Amino acid sequence: MGRCAAMLALGGLSLLVAACSNAATTPQQAFNAQSDYAIAGDNLFSLIIWMGVIIGVIVEAVLIWAAIHYRRRPGDRLPPQIHGNTIIEIIWTTGPVIVVGYILFVTLPVIFRTQAPAPPASMNVEVIGHQFWWEFQYPDANVVTSNELHLPVGKTANLILHSDDVIHSFWIPALGGKRDAFPGHTNFIWMTPNTTGEFPGQCYQLCGYSHGNMRERAIIQSPADFQTWLTSQQAPVVQPTDPVAVEGGQLLQTRGCAACHTINGTPAQGKVGPNLTHVASRGTIAGSIFDNNAQNLRTWLKDPPAVKPGSIMPNLGLNDHELDVLVAYLQSLK
Ligand code: CUA
Repeated sequence: MGRCAAMLALGGLSLLVAACSNAATTPQQAFNAQSDYAIAGDNLFSLIIWMGVIIGVIVEAVLIWAAIHYRRRPGDRLPPQIHGNTIIEIIWTTGPVIVVGYILFVTLPVIFRTQAPAPPASMNVEVIGHQFWWEFQYPDANVVTSNELHLPVGKTANLILHSDDVIHSFWIPALGGKRDAFPGHTNFIWMTPNTTGEFPGQCYQLCGYSHGNMRERAIIQSPADFQTWLTSQQAPVVQPTDPVAVEGGQLLQTRGCAACHTINGTPAQGKVGPNLTHVASRGTIAGSIFDNNAQNLRTWLKDPPAVKPGSIMPNLGLNDHELDVLVAYLQSLK
Protein backbone atom coordinates (compact mmCIF):
# COMPACT_ATOMS: atom_id res chain seq x y z
CA MET A 1 0.00 0.00 0.00
CA GLY A 2 2.79 2.39 0.98
CA ARG A 3 4.76 1.50 -2.15
CA CYS A 4 1.66 1.98 -4.30
CA ALA A 5 1.06 5.45 -2.83
CA ALA A 6 4.72 6.37 -3.39
CA MET A 7 4.52 5.20 -7.04
CA LEU A 8 1.36 7.23 -7.56
CA ALA A 9 2.97 10.32 -5.99
CA LEU A 10 6.10 9.91 -8.13
CA GLY A 11 4.01 9.37 -11.27
CA GLY A 12 1.97 12.49 -10.52
CA LEU A 13 5.12 14.49 -9.88
CA SER A 14 6.75 13.41 -13.14
CA LEU A 15 3.56 14.26 -15.05
CA LEU A 16 3.59 17.70 -13.41
CA VAL A 17 7.25 18.22 -14.25
CA ALA A 18 6.66 17.09 -17.85
CA ALA A 19 3.68 19.44 -18.17
CA CYS A 20 5.58 22.37 -16.68
CA SER A 21 8.74 21.94 -18.69
CA ASN A 22 7.18 21.89 -22.15
CA ALA A 23 6.90 25.50 -23.28
CA ALA A 24 5.79 24.41 -26.76
CA THR A 25 2.54 22.80 -25.59
CA THR A 26 1.91 25.15 -22.65
CA PRO A 27 3.46 28.46 -23.75
CA GLN A 28 1.55 30.52 -21.20
CA GLN A 29 3.32 29.03 -18.19
CA ALA A 30 5.50 30.76 -15.62
CA PHE A 31 8.47 28.37 -16.01
CA ASN A 32 9.37 29.66 -19.46
CA ALA A 33 11.47 32.69 -18.47
CA GLN A 34 12.50 34.81 -21.47
CA SER A 35 13.62 38.07 -19.83
CA ASP A 36 16.01 39.18 -17.09
CA TYR A 37 13.04 39.97 -14.85
CA ALA A 38 11.38 36.58 -15.41
CA ILE A 39 14.70 34.76 -14.85
CA ALA A 40 15.32 36.63 -11.56
CA GLY A 41 11.93 35.50 -10.25
CA ASP A 42 12.40 31.97 -11.59
CA ASN A 43 15.82 31.64 -9.89
CA LEU A 44 14.41 32.75 -6.52
CA PHE A 45 11.49 30.36 -6.92
CA SER A 46 13.78 27.40 -7.73
CA LEU A 47 16.15 28.23 -4.84
CA ILE A 48 13.33 28.44 -2.29
CA ILE A 49 11.60 25.30 -3.60
CA TRP A 50 14.85 23.29 -3.44
CA MET A 51 15.62 24.57 0.07
CA GLY A 52 12.11 23.50 1.08
CA VAL A 53 12.51 20.07 -0.56
CA ILE A 54 15.86 19.40 1.15
CA ILE A 55 14.64 20.55 4.59
CA GLY A 56 11.38 18.63 4.12
CA VAL A 57 13.22 15.39 3.24
CA ILE A 58 15.59 15.75 6.24
CA VAL A 59 12.74 16.48 8.68
CA GLU A 60 10.60 13.61 7.36
CA ALA A 61 13.57 11.19 7.46
CA VAL A 62 14.35 12.07 11.11
CA LEU A 63 10.65 11.82 11.98
CA ILE A 64 10.23 8.39 10.38
CA TRP A 65 13.50 7.12 11.88
CA ALA A 66 12.47 8.33 15.37
CA ALA A 67 8.98 6.85 15.03
CA ILE A 68 10.41 3.43 14.16
CA HIS A 69 13.45 3.45 16.46
CA TYR A 70 11.59 4.69 19.53
CA ARG A 71 8.29 2.93 18.86
CA ARG A 72 6.40 1.42 21.80
CA ARG A 73 7.36 -2.15 22.58
CA PRO A 74 5.52 -4.67 24.82
CA GLY A 75 6.49 -4.16 28.46
CA ASP A 76 7.73 -0.58 27.92
CA ARG A 77 7.19 1.71 30.84
CA LEU A 78 6.37 5.41 30.56
CA PRO A 79 9.61 7.09 29.35
CA PRO A 80 11.12 9.95 31.39
CA GLN A 81 9.01 13.10 30.98
CA ILE A 82 11.24 16.10 30.25
CA HIS A 83 10.29 19.66 29.54
CA GLY A 84 12.59 22.22 27.96
CA ASN A 85 16.14 21.69 26.79
CA THR A 86 18.00 24.96 26.32
CA ILE A 87 20.30 23.69 23.56
CA ILE A 88 17.46 22.17 21.53
CA GLU A 89 15.31 25.30 22.04
CA ILE A 90 18.17 27.46 20.74
CA ILE A 91 18.77 25.16 17.74
CA TRP A 92 15.18 25.04 16.57
CA THR A 93 14.72 28.76 17.05
CA THR A 94 17.89 29.91 15.30
CA GLY A 95 17.67 27.29 12.50
CA PRO A 96 14.44 28.64 10.95
CA VAL A 97 15.58 32.23 11.56
CA ILE A 98 18.73 31.53 9.54
CA VAL A 99 16.74 29.84 6.74
CA VAL A 100 14.13 32.62 6.50
CA GLY A 101 16.86 35.27 6.93
CA TYR A 102 18.75 33.75 3.99
CA ILE A 103 15.59 33.86 1.82
CA LEU A 104 15.19 37.54 2.77
CA PHE A 105 18.89 38.16 2.04
CA VAL A 106 18.62 36.83 -1.54
CA THR A 107 15.11 38.19 -2.25
CA LEU A 108 15.42 41.80 -1.07
CA PRO A 109 18.07 42.87 -3.63
CA VAL A 110 15.91 41.45 -6.47
CA ILE A 111 12.85 43.35 -5.17
CA PHE A 112 14.79 46.63 -4.90
CA ARG A 113 16.44 46.16 -8.31
CA THR A 114 13.25 45.27 -10.21
CA GLN A 115 10.98 47.81 -8.46
CA ALA A 116 13.37 50.74 -9.01
CA PRO A 117 12.65 53.10 -11.92
CA ALA A 118 13.68 51.70 -15.31
CA PRO A 119 17.19 52.53 -16.59
CA PRO A 120 17.19 55.87 -18.46
CA ALA A 121 17.98 54.34 -21.87
CA SER A 122 14.87 52.14 -21.83
CA MET A 123 12.24 52.21 -24.55
CA ASN A 124 8.93 53.53 -23.20
CA VAL A 125 5.69 51.80 -24.17
CA GLU A 126 2.34 52.99 -22.84
CA VAL A 127 0.16 49.98 -22.04
CA ILE A 128 -3.51 50.88 -21.67
CA GLY A 129 -6.14 48.40 -20.53
CA HIS A 130 -9.63 48.60 -22.04
CA GLN A 131 -12.68 46.34 -21.69
CA PHE A 132 -11.55 43.97 -23.28
CA TRP A 133 -8.35 44.63 -25.19
CA TRP A 134 -4.89 46.13 -24.72
CA GLU A 135 -3.60 49.26 -26.41
CA PHE A 136 0.14 49.78 -26.92
CA GLN A 137 1.50 53.25 -27.66
CA TYR A 138 5.10 53.94 -28.63
CA PRO A 139 5.27 57.66 -27.77
CA ASP A 140 8.79 58.21 -29.17
CA ALA A 141 7.79 56.72 -32.53
CA ASN A 142 4.22 58.01 -32.62
CA VAL A 143 2.85 54.51 -33.17
CA VAL A 144 -0.36 53.09 -31.70
CA THR A 145 -1.33 49.43 -31.95
CA SER A 146 -3.32 46.88 -29.99
CA ASN A 147 -3.15 43.37 -28.53
CA GLU A 148 0.33 42.62 -29.91
CA LEU A 149 3.26 44.16 -28.06
CA HIS A 150 6.29 44.31 -30.35
CA LEU A 151 9.63 44.65 -28.54
CA PRO A 152 13.24 44.40 -29.71
CA VAL A 153 15.31 41.64 -28.10
CA GLY A 154 18.08 42.82 -25.76
CA LYS A 155 16.62 46.28 -25.18
CA THR A 156 15.02 47.22 -21.88
CA ALA A 157 11.33 48.01 -22.30
CA ASN A 158 9.66 50.24 -19.72
CA LEU A 159 5.93 49.49 -19.76
CA ILE A 160 3.87 52.39 -18.42
CA LEU A 161 0.56 50.89 -17.35
CA HIS A 162 -2.81 52.48 -16.91
CA SER A 163 -6.45 51.74 -17.64
CA ASP A 164 -9.22 53.48 -19.50
CA ASP A 165 -12.05 51.95 -17.45
CA VAL A 166 -11.71 49.31 -14.69
CA ILE A 167 -8.68 47.58 -13.15
CA HIS A 168 -6.91 45.18 -15.50
CA SER A 169 -3.65 43.34 -15.00
CA PHE A 170 -0.95 42.97 -17.64
CA TRP A 171 0.72 39.58 -17.67
CA ILE A 172 2.97 37.91 -20.21
CA PRO A 173 4.35 34.98 -18.18
CA ALA A 174 7.50 34.57 -20.29
CA LEU A 175 8.48 38.20 -19.63
CA GLY A 176 7.92 38.12 -15.86
CA GLY A 177 5.43 39.05 -13.18
CA LYS A 178 2.01 40.55 -13.63
CA ARG A 179 1.21 44.18 -12.87
CA ASP A 180 -2.14 45.93 -12.42
CA ALA A 181 -3.32 48.66 -14.78
CA PHE A 182 -5.45 51.18 -12.87
CA PRO A 183 -7.63 54.05 -14.02
CA GLY A 184 -6.18 57.32 -12.68
CA HIS A 185 -2.90 55.80 -11.48
CA THR A 186 0.25 54.85 -13.36
CA ASN A 187 2.14 51.62 -12.72
CA PHE A 188 5.44 50.53 -14.22
CA ILE A 189 7.04 47.22 -15.11
CA TRP A 190 10.29 46.87 -17.02
CA MET A 191 12.33 44.01 -18.39
CA THR A 192 14.83 43.10 -21.10
CA PRO A 193 13.59 40.28 -23.35
CA ASN A 194 16.40 37.86 -24.19
CA THR A 195 14.85 35.62 -26.87
CA THR A 196 13.01 36.36 -30.09
CA GLY A 197 9.62 34.72 -30.47
CA GLU A 198 5.94 35.11 -29.74
CA PHE A 199 4.77 34.81 -26.14
CA PRO A 200 1.09 34.81 -25.18
CA GLY A 201 -0.41 36.45 -22.11
CA GLN A 202 -3.71 37.14 -20.46
CA CYS A 203 -5.37 39.91 -18.45
CA TYR A 204 -5.05 38.77 -14.85
CA GLN A 205 -7.62 40.89 -13.05
CA LEU A 206 -11.32 40.09 -13.26
CA CYS A 207 -12.51 43.05 -15.31
CA GLY A 208 -15.94 42.07 -16.64
CA TYR A 209 -17.79 39.54 -18.81
CA SER A 210 -14.94 39.02 -21.26
CA HIS A 211 -12.01 39.12 -18.83
CA GLY A 212 -11.14 35.65 -20.09
CA ASN A 213 -11.16 36.97 -23.67
CA MET A 214 -8.73 39.79 -22.89
CA ARG A 215 -5.54 38.32 -24.21
CA GLU A 216 -2.28 39.79 -25.43
CA ARG A 217 0.92 38.58 -27.00
CA ALA A 218 4.48 39.82 -26.93
CA ILE A 219 6.29 39.62 -30.25
CA ILE A 220 10.02 39.82 -29.49
CA GLN A 221 11.98 40.66 -32.63
CA SER A 222 15.58 41.25 -33.65
CA PRO A 223 16.40 45.00 -33.53
CA ALA A 224 16.33 45.15 -37.36
CA ASP A 225 12.96 43.38 -37.62
CA PHE A 226 11.55 45.59 -34.86
CA GLN A 227 12.71 48.72 -36.70
CA THR A 228 11.11 47.44 -39.91
CA TRP A 229 7.84 46.86 -38.05
CA LEU A 230 7.99 50.30 -36.40
CA THR A 231 8.64 52.01 -39.74
CA SER A 232 5.75 50.15 -41.39
CA GLN A 233 3.44 51.26 -38.56
CA GLN A 234 4.55 54.89 -38.99
CA ALA A 235 3.72 54.83 -42.70
CA PRO A 236 0.52 56.63 -43.63
CA VAL A 237 -2.43 54.43 -44.49
CA VAL A 238 -2.45 53.21 -48.09
CA GLN A 239 -5.97 53.70 -49.43
CA PRO A 240 -7.07 50.73 -51.54
CA THR A 241 -7.81 50.88 -55.26
CA ASP A 242 -9.85 47.66 -55.42
CA PRO A 243 -13.47 48.85 -55.81
CA VAL A 244 -14.83 46.42 -53.19
CA ALA A 245 -12.34 47.65 -50.60
CA VAL A 246 -12.95 51.28 -51.63
CA GLU A 247 -16.65 50.80 -50.95
CA GLY A 248 -15.77 49.27 -47.58
CA GLY A 249 -13.64 52.33 -46.76
CA GLN A 250 -16.57 54.63 -47.52
CA LEU A 251 -18.94 52.46 -45.51
CA LEU A 252 -16.60 52.53 -42.51
CA GLN A 253 -16.79 56.33 -42.46
CA THR A 254 -20.60 56.42 -42.65
CA ARG A 255 -21.75 53.29 -40.81
CA GLY A 256 -20.75 54.35 -37.29
CA CYS A 257 -17.32 52.66 -37.14
CA ALA A 258 -15.52 56.01 -37.36
CA ALA A 259 -17.06 57.18 -34.07
CA CYS A 260 -14.98 54.60 -32.18
CA HIS A 261 -11.97 53.80 -34.37
CA THR A 262 -9.11 55.86 -35.76
CA ILE A 263 -7.61 55.31 -39.18
CA ASN A 264 -4.78 57.83 -39.49
CA GLY A 265 -5.17 60.21 -42.42
CA THR A 266 -8.94 59.64 -42.73
CA PRO A 267 -11.91 61.34 -41.03
CA ALA A 268 -12.17 58.29 -38.71
CA GLN A 269 -10.69 59.58 -35.45
CA GLY A 270 -12.69 57.72 -32.75
CA LYS A 271 -10.80 56.82 -29.58
CA VAL A 272 -13.04 54.14 -28.03
CA GLY A 273 -11.81 51.06 -29.90
CA PRO A 274 -8.44 50.00 -31.31
CA ASN A 275 -6.62 52.17 -33.87
CA LEU A 276 -7.15 50.32 -37.18
CA THR A 277 -4.60 52.17 -39.36
CA HIS A 278 -2.53 48.98 -39.89
CA VAL A 279 -4.97 46.37 -38.61
CA ALA A 280 -4.17 43.94 -41.45
CA SER A 281 -0.56 43.74 -40.21
CA ARG A 282 -1.71 42.18 -36.92
CA GLY A 283 -1.81 38.43 -36.39
CA THR A 284 -4.93 38.49 -34.23
CA ILE A 285 -8.09 40.54 -33.64
CA ALA A 286 -10.71 41.15 -30.94
CA GLY A 287 -8.50 41.09 -27.86
CA SER A 288 -6.18 38.59 -29.53
CA ILE A 289 -8.76 35.80 -29.33
CA PHE A 290 -9.10 35.21 -33.11
CA ASP A 291 -6.56 34.84 -35.88
CA ASN A 292 -6.79 37.79 -38.22
CA ASN A 293 -8.39 36.36 -41.37
CA ALA A 294 -11.41 37.16 -43.54
CA GLN A 295 -13.69 34.58 -41.95
CA ASN A 296 -12.95 35.66 -38.37
CA LEU A 297 -13.22 39.35 -39.26
CA ARG A 298 -16.63 38.67 -40.76
CA THR A 299 -17.83 36.69 -37.71
CA TRP A 300 -16.57 39.45 -35.45
CA LEU A 301 -18.16 42.35 -37.37
CA LYS A 302 -21.47 40.51 -37.75
CA ASP A 303 -22.18 40.38 -34.00
CA PRO A 304 -19.28 41.25 -31.66
CA PRO A 305 -21.07 40.65 -28.34
CA ALA A 306 -22.12 37.19 -29.56
CA VAL A 307 -18.50 36.03 -29.81
CA LYS A 308 -17.07 38.23 -27.05
CA PRO A 309 -19.71 38.76 -24.34
CA GLY A 310 -19.77 42.25 -22.89
CA SER A 311 -17.95 43.70 -25.89
CA ILE A 312 -18.51 47.47 -26.13
CA MET A 313 -18.45 47.12 -29.92
CA PRO A 314 -22.15 46.76 -30.78
CA ASN A 315 -23.98 44.64 -33.31
CA LEU A 316 -24.50 47.18 -36.12
CA GLY A 317 -26.85 44.85 -38.02
CA LEU A 318 -24.56 44.78 -41.06
CA ASN A 319 -25.93 42.87 -44.06
CA ASP A 320 -23.87 40.34 -46.05
CA HIS A 321 -22.75 42.86 -48.66
CA GLU A 322 -21.71 45.38 -46.02
CA LEU A 323 -19.75 42.67 -44.21
CA ASP A 324 -17.98 41.67 -47.47
CA VAL A 325 -16.86 45.19 -48.34
CA LEU A 326 -15.81 46.07 -44.77
CA VAL A 327 -13.73 42.90 -44.48
CA ALA A 328 -12.10 43.68 -47.85
CA TYR A 329 -11.25 47.20 -46.66
CA LEU A 330 -9.87 46.08 -43.28
CA GLN A 331 -7.74 43.44 -45.00
CA SER A 332 -6.23 46.14 -47.22
CA LEU A 333 -4.96 48.11 -44.21
CA LYS A 334 -1.51 46.50 -44.12
CU1 CUA B 1 -8.95 43.05 -18.33
CU2 CUA B 1 -9.37 41.14 -17.04
